[in-house]
Amino acid sequence: MTAPSSGPSSVLVVGTGGREHALALALSRDPAVSEVHAAPGNPGIGAVATLHDVDPGDPAAVAALASRLGVDLVVVGPEAPLVAGVADAVTEAGIACFGPSRAAARLEGSKAFAKEVMAAAGVPTARSRVCSTPAEVAEALDAFGAPYVVKDDALAAGKGVVVTTDRAEALAHAATCGTVVVEEFLDGPEVSLFAVCDGATTRALQPAQDFKRIHDGGRGPNTGGMGSYSPLPWAPPDLAALVVATVVQPTLDEMARRGAPFRGCLYVGLALTAAGPRVIEFNVRFGDPDVQPVLALLDSPLGELLLAAAEGRLDEVAPPRFRTGAAVSVVLASAGYPESSSKGDVIAGADRAAARADVDVIHAGTALDGDALVTAGGRVLAVRATGADVAAARAAAYSAAEEISFPGMQRRSDIAAEPLGVVEGAAVLAD
Ligand code: AMP
Ligand code: GLY
Repeated sequence: MTAPSSGPSSVLVVGTGGREHALALALSRDPAVSEVHAAPGNPGIGAVATLHDVDPGDPAAVAALASRLGVDLVVVGPEAPLVAGVADAVTEAGIACFGPSRAAARLEGSKAFAKEVMAAAGVPTARSRVCSTPAEVAEALDAFGAPYVVKDDALAAGKGVVVTTDRAEALAHAATCGTVVVEEFLDGPEVSLFAVCDGATTRALQPAQDFKRIHDGGRGPNTGGMGSYSPLPWAPPDLAALVVATVVQPTLDEMARRGAPFRGCLYVGLALTAAGPRVIEFNVRFGDPDVQPVLALLDSPLGELLLAAAEGRLDEVAPPRFRTGAAVSVVLASAGYPESSSKGDVIAGADRAAARADVDVIHAGTALDGDALVTAGGRVLAVRATGADVAAARAAAYSAAEEISFPGMQRRSDIAAEPLGVVEGAAVLAD
């Protein structure tokens, strides 16, 4: 580790899910960080941070909490508080904030805006049309052909996208949304790249892959993510550098030119097509569960990196370093997910799983009912393990996951299984 002196000693993590737990854990393991707080957090985060019952979507309340605690850095996890202006309020209160302003968060808040920025910046992405009437949607579907891709323009927690060869299903999805983006299907394995940005400079983390569909073999509806792994042994070694050069830096330059410099994590969701990497989407925060294995392998201090980004001096810190080996996260979801979720189901075995060497049990949607840990959302827990390679990390994660059970639990059995790097969802489209 580098000298811890330039890192924050106290950090407030805003949010309540698995991403926030993974961030809080990594910060708690950073030797420079002596205090971690969370608003509002969850029972897992409570094991490594002090929890504060503050609404993460209320900019004034978050800024007031950060001021009262006197933290050196606020890290905003989810997109909704960013779109609501939490980073603006914290920054106005004079506290460093990792997470983009409301204006810059439009890169995720509006898919149409993201497409406009990509076009202006010359970023490679799917051809697309913004449609607001059924006739426009029908015309766009026919222009691009099957498989059809229809995206709700508004924030939909990763669930507003339908990819299908069934034209009627594509039309029906569009009818449930307001404005939609219809786009060309990108054929290639998906990659998540997290770029830590300070408005001008960027430092990419190691790429990861996320499994988005609910069932094995890439079947069933899209979810927020059912598992993930990193690194990607099958991907070109220069992938991160290529994406920084062709996607991240041009986007940062374009956002700065528009007077909305991007500070925070630019999450680039990519398809590696035959013609090269193409952007599927931008998010303005770390992805969950994709970031979990990446953070497990980070070998340089997270606090220093995020503080330097928040303060616009990323060029002063060394690029992030990663341990050799691999990490895998397997998500345990509640009954009904992703259409609905089941709350209050008692969870058994989480402590036994977490007690294993090289394993963390990451809490996403959990709550305490008296002393009992219960489900409180769609994605409930993720079992994350490290190992010498993807196969070893995978075996450790699944073995630990065997310890955990709750009524109606859903878990994919093929997260990070061979063959790696295949096109998720191809099975569905072939049906
Ligand atoms: P998004 O919310 O934009 O990330 O979309 C969710 C998922 O839908 C992605 O992870 C992909 O699996 C799929 N998807 C979105 N856009 C496309 C596209 N243009 N081509 C192929 N698959 C896509
Ligand atoms: N894992 C996908 C996301 O965080 O949106």
